[in-house]
Amino acid sequence: MASILISLIFIISFSPAIAGISNVESDINDLQTYIVYVQEPKHGNFSKEIDLESWYHSFLPATISSNSIDDDHQSRMVHYYRHVISGFAARLTAEEVKVMETKSGFISAHVENTLQLHTTHTPRFLGLHQNSGFWKDSNFGKGVIIGVVDSGIGPTHPSFGDKDMPPPPAKWRGKCEFAGGAGCNNKIIGARNFLNKSEPPTDNEGHGTHTSSTAAGTFVNGANILGQANGTAVGMAPLAHLAMYKACDDYNGTCPESSVSAALDAAIEDGVDVLSLSIGLGPYQHKEFHANAIAIAAFKAVKKGIFVSISAGNWGPKPFSVVNDAPWMLTVGASTTDRSIVTSVQLGNQETYDGESLLQWTDIPSEQLPLVYPVTKNASATTNCSPETLKSIDVKGKVVLCLLSVNPQDVLDAGGAAMILMNNELIGDSIVVARSVLRNVRVSYMVGESIKAYINSTSSPTAALVVKGTVIGEKSAPAIVAFSSRGPSTVSPGILKPDVVGPGVNIIAAWRTAVEPITNTEYIFDIISGTSMSCPHLSGIAALLKSAHPDWSPAAIKSAIMTTADTVNLEGKPILDRNHLPADPFAVGAGHVNPSKANDPGLIYDIQPDDYIPYLCGLNYTDQQVQGIVGGDVQCSKMSSIAEAELNYPSFSIRLGSSPQTYNRTVTNVGPANLSYTSQIVAPEGVEITIQPDKISFTEKNQKVAYSVTFTRTKNTNTSFTQANLSWISGRYAVKSPIAISFI
Ligand SMILES: *[C@@H]1O[C@H](CO)[C@@H](O)[C@H](O)[C@H]1NC(C)=O
Ligand SMILES: *[C@@H]1O[C@H](CO)[C@@H](O)[C@H](O)[C@H]1NC(C)=O
Ligand SMILES: *[C@@H]1O[C@H](CO)[C@@H](O)[C@H](O)[C@H]1NC(C)=O
Ligand SMILES: *[C@@H]1O[C@H](CO)[C@@H](O)[C@H](O)[C@H]1NC(C)=O
Ligand SMILES: *[C@@H]1O[C@H](CO)[C@@H](O)[C@H](O)[C@H]1NC(C)=O
Ligand SMILES: *[C@@H]1O[C@H](CO)[C@@H](O)[C@H](O)[C@H]1NC(C)=O
Ligand SMILES: *[C@@H]1O[C@H](CO)[C@@H](O)[C@H](O)[C@H]1NC(C)=O
Ligand SMILES: *[C@@H]1O[C@H](CO)[C@@H](O)[C@H](O)[C@H]1NC(C)=O
Ligand SMILES: *[C@@H]1O[C@H](CO)[C@@H](O)[C@H](O)[C@H]1NC(C)=O
Ligand SMILES: *[C@@H]1O[C@H](CO)[C@@H](O)[C@H](O)[C@H]1NC(C)=O
Ligand SMILES: *[C@@H]1O[C@H](CO)[C@@H](O)[C@H](O)[C@H]1NC(C)=O
Repeated sequence: MASILISLIFIISFSPAIAGISNVESDINDLQTYIVYVQEPKHGNFSKEIDLESWYHSFLPATISSNSIDDDHQSRMVHYYRHVISGFAARLTAEEVKVMETKSGFISAHVENTLQLHTTHTPRFLGLHQNSGFWKDSNFGKGVIIGVVDSGIGPTHPSFGDKDMPPPPAKWRGKCEFAGGAGCNNKIIGARNFLNKSEPPTDNEGHGTHTSSTAAGTFVNGANILGQANGTAVGMAPLAHLAMYKACDDYNGTCPESSVSAALDAAIEDGVDVLSLSIGLGPYQHKEFHANAIAIAAFKAVKKGIFVSISAGNWGPKPFSVVNDAPWMLTVGASTTDRSIVTSVQLGNQETYDGESLLQWTDIPSEQLPLVYPVTKNASATTNCSPETLKSIDVKGKVVLCLLSVNPQDVLDAGGAAMILMNNELIGDSIVVARSVLRNVRVSYMVGESIKAYINSTSSPTAALVVKGTVIGEKSAPAIVAFSSRGPSTVSPGILKPDVVGPGVNIIAAWRTAVEPITNTEYIFDIISGTSMSCPHLSGIAALLKSAHPDWSPAAIKSAIMTTADTVNLEGKPILDRNHLPADPFAVGAGHVNPSKANDPGLIYDIQPDDYIPYLCGLNYTDQQVQGIVGGDVQCSKMSSIAEAELNYPSFSIRLGSSPQTYNRTVTNVGPANLSYTSQIVAPEGVEITIQPDKISFTEKNQKVAYSVTFTRTKNTNTSFTQANLSWISGRYAVKSPIAISFI
């Protein structure tokens, strides 16, 4: 209720702001926020802010720029960028942009995209233990700064206490925009708002609080959600610092691209070490890298040595649904953990099936009640649990079996006692719990079908719900969740995406707290799901790696995470997809993150920022488009461009026709000085893979050795896709690369 009221206030407050620009010739109703790319200023001293600003202002229409920087002018300018691009964001009409195009120094402009948020137990599940191993070796991420671009932060939450936290490192230049700096301490060392500069960077809903605490929250004992999953809540890097860059609306989850760019611009300036972005384009909104503000900004960050971890999107399980797919970022998919909050369905025939439920209620019906599956057919569709159907079928006091897409409020209104919410076939096994207005248990597609068959088999079906509570040790974990976005990448199919998966299903972490002291303890933690949740796990792990290996480049950290990822689940079988079949590389990437192994990968595939230039030229981008991404002067004609698969990436995505293809890779020894590695290839039917040389030896640390891998199609098979595995093995080291092969 509160959020609806406040949203209304937001909308009302918008109109006066726009109406303020009255003396402009163009129709102010047509104003849109454009991101404008201009040449880097050639003259003047642009370390002085005012000069850069006047260069940008010189592109605004003459009608509003007669006196240099007047009020109207100022109100049209939305953000000045210094690091992420040469350019600015301004509110303009299409006509004004046309005029601007004629000015010397103008490169391009586009209407900003709208991005969105990709909405305690996990450290132990990931093998992190308080007094030993990698957590200790990496000093819990001490001294590393994680910048989170999100919906703000709830600064008074106990997860952001700064006991044992050192002060920020000397290089830190960030700001705290909470009134009087009150919300900041040695944990939250910076907090700014790029959505509305007049408001503090507070998170009134919870998303940014949740992601921040997952990355770097401190130890909080007795964290639970409605009494379930009770334990110590802690982020991945409990001694890392946090800086919040608010760029997303905390009520509706939308993030204007111009604000996200401004947030990233500031984060680079401030001196963060790791960037965590649980945001991106919506379903199937793919943008070439030169038209994608996050990809462009992330490149500038990587150039400065900043690691960028980003969510893959929640648009699975369909292929080509992955977003945030630039090779310089770590694209993170979502998987399950071994913890579930179990409620079983006990049918009248004594069959029992496990499902999951958040247990908001003390009075889940445990006696047998009539069970009903309300369906009606009309000319256009079969409608299950729709308001019309519920009018024609009596559900009062009954347990009601419905599809997950149904609105529980409708069933509550019709008098249902409880709901069994079943997945559709596409979602399969993936169970995501959530708060609901009606007692419910969520079951897989297979279980739902069994319950349907039981209902069909008897004239008086009944069911009882039996609460079992928190259960740890599910052997099929981790498994890929249905919603996690799948590759191939649309923009660059020759790069395998997502890169890796991490915990993103039913994740418990800090939840909304207003600036005032916490009164409603029920909301201190909440359980939510999404690649939004898996991304900050990897951000925190990257911080640990950065702390343990300050000399590793972003690409080296990424390689370490990918080549050591687990490819099997807790029972030693291949990681499964939501349909019980082994997950393919477009779902699981290199596998499930294994932080301790990532700390000691043996070999890494390194990439220097300039190495991406021949790759971008190879995507057939124009010089101007490549310049827009990498900055500076680039002429593709003057360098040899490379195929996507030739980038020194830790995984392969090959499109194989009748002619053989050879790619080079270079590995760097970050393990013991004197080791020899032997290659191990698992090739599928119809493809021959050869490695040259198939044995490599190192005599010193940081030594680089190149090898080549050749793919040859030996037989036509009836599949369009297959996969292979390449590993370099030496004693305890296995440097693994997944290979996805699409036949063309
Ligand atoms: C920004 O916040 C201020 C203070 O709450 C408010 O008056 C103003 O309308 C907001 N602007 C926008 C564009 O929402
Ligand atoms: C640019 O400005 C900075 C700061 O005001 C000053 O230190 C520097 O010497 C100036 N450089 C030039 C080339 O004028
Ligand atoms: C959570 O665990 C702690 C420590 O074991 C205990 O003191 C507390 O009562 C538990 N809370 C709940 C809600 O179970
Ligand atoms: C979200 O809220 C902002 C105001 O805070 C508004 O400008 C925007 O249009 C809203 N977006 C959606 C999709 O509702
Ligand atoms: C028939 O089903 C369609 C699709 O669900 C629905 O929009 C429509 O309202 C239904 N008509 C009746 C009379 O129930
Ligand atoms: C229920 O029984 C009918 C008639 O025997 C059959 O057509 C239908 O497929 C059955 N449904 C299920 C879910 O078993
Ligand atoms: C780029 O253009 C060349 C020559 O036309 C073509 O062979 C190649 O496939 C193109 N690359 C991409 C990624 O489209
Ligand atoms: C791969 O390496 C070999 C040997 O160094 C070299 O001759 C070849 O040109 C390289 N291939 C590409 C595509 O760079
Ligand atoms: C590695 O081997 C080389 C040559 O055999 C030797 O000179 C060097 O001392 C060895 N280094 C280590 C660390 O064992
Ligand atoms: C492909 O061929 C194999 C045997 O070679 C067969 O088992 C499989 O069913 C075929 N698949 C399709 C989709 O035709
Ligand atoms: C590659 O490894 C994965 C994970 O262990 C496995 O599921 C897959 O079957 C392997 N591929 C081949 C061709 O053996």
